Amino acid sequence: MTANCIFKAEDTDLASRFPAHFQWGSATSAAQIEGASALDGKGASIWDSFCGQPGRINDGSHIDVACDHYHLFHEDIARMKWLGLESYRFSISWPRVQALGEGAWNEAGFAFYGQLIDALIEAGIKPHVTLYHWDLPQALHDSIGGWMSRDIVPRFAAYAAEVARRFGSKVASIATLNEPWCVATLGYETGQFAPGMRSRKAAMQVSHHLMMAHGAAMLAMRPLTQTQLGVVLNHTPAFPAEPTEADRQAARIDDGLNVRWYMDPIFRGSYPADVIEHLGDDAPQIEAQDLTLIQQPLDFLGVNFYTRSFISTQTPAVPAPGKLGFTDMGWEIYPKALTQHLVRITREYSPPPIFITENGMANADQVVDGQVADVERIAYLRAHLGALAQAMELGVDVRGYFYWSLLDNFEWNSGYLKRFGLFHVDYSNQQRLAKASAHWYRALIEVFGQAR
Ligand code: NOJ
Repeated sequence: MTANCIFKAEDTDLASRFPAHFQWGSATSAAQIEGASALDGKGASIWDSFCGQPGRINDGSHIDVACDHYHLFHEDIARMKWLGLESYRFSISWPRVQALGEGAWNEAGFAFYGQLIDALIEAGIKPHVTLYHWDLPQALHDSIGGWMSRDIVPRFAAYAAEVARRFGSKVASIATLNEPWCVATLGYETGQFAPGMRSRKAAMQVSHHLMMAHGAAMLAMRPLTQTQLGVVLNHTPAFPAEPTEADRQAARIDDGLNVRWYMDPIFRGSYPADVIEHLGDDAPQIEAQDLTLIQQPLDFLGVNFYTRSFISTQTPAVPAPGKLGFTDMGWEIYPKALTQHLVRITREYSPPPIFITENGMANADQVVDGQVADVERIAYLRAHLGALAQAMELGVDVRGYFYWSLLDNFEWNSGYLKRFGLFHVDYSNQQRLAKASAHWYRALIEVFGQAR
């Protein structure tokens, strides 16, 4: 399937709805693609350990090789160039550059990221860095309890400062954290993610330490770099399933825990009172000045958007209607929520310029006759970019879009079973194959560039 037969006249119209300065990108993260998990002085992360525990990863797989991007990054950058990407978002693995999460820096690890950044710039692609995409040094978890301890805050700030010092003049942006809600809730409350704990109290304390670490990192990096600094939050807007008071209230708390818990301290200097009350004894311990530390001015806000939450208090729960279907993760396709949500946060928080730092779908892709005809992903992209354009037409300041993900990769506790990539990866031989969606995205970027 070539771009000719999938790129339609309406897609040219779609491209024309984005302003000339808009950046087209794609995103990945270190633990999900790099592999080389114990090479050249890299320390173990909590995900290396988690993969080693039976029953944690659905397909029993491990991140030790993943997409072997550590060795194949030049080829992968060539693929980005073929796509026409202007920007690429990736993360630095903390234990690759500081094996223990404190003490000595690992020069070999920094050399890898230095080469990656230089090769991107050489290819005309802007590097956008994330400091924490979930691969905490295992040593820090063992020594101080990782994110459960306030003592992680200065350690994270020192790591952030070192990255800013070394790469701050070369990269287009640095985000402190990726999706702190996932780190805290899935890692410490539901136990689906590393380190696999199950305590709401611990999770809420972790969320507070994450926010503090974000603030301390912003403060530490500011004097060291002129680059854009921000944070990446996952927003899954909550909708009441039925117009009952119970569903409305449950949706409000869900929104409180997912959206307001992270937005309020950053933009308003306080946690939402209704959520604190809802948490009761599980609310975190907060010390004087913590919220002042968290409320650092941001240059940009990264929003990751995939789906909405459909909140029902009935038993059994009222299912989401899914008029546009569900992805291979079981997530409802609901692009309208992207428009509504961006308009809402702009009105309620007056955030700095927004980047859609992730959006994409897992699909049950199949290679047939050497091609992947992922028409579902093209439909998802069309619908979400349309929703994004609409938000911008309504006045939301969005500067760029990063498709998740460049490559099929390690989808956390789903292992390699879920495929989000524009490129299909055959894990038996590390062959990459451009899916139809990659051809479509490339055509969109090309048409956009011609009109610029
Ligand atoms: C959010 C995360 O940042 C990324 O690591 C993950 O693979 C995607 N969503 C898809 O679940």
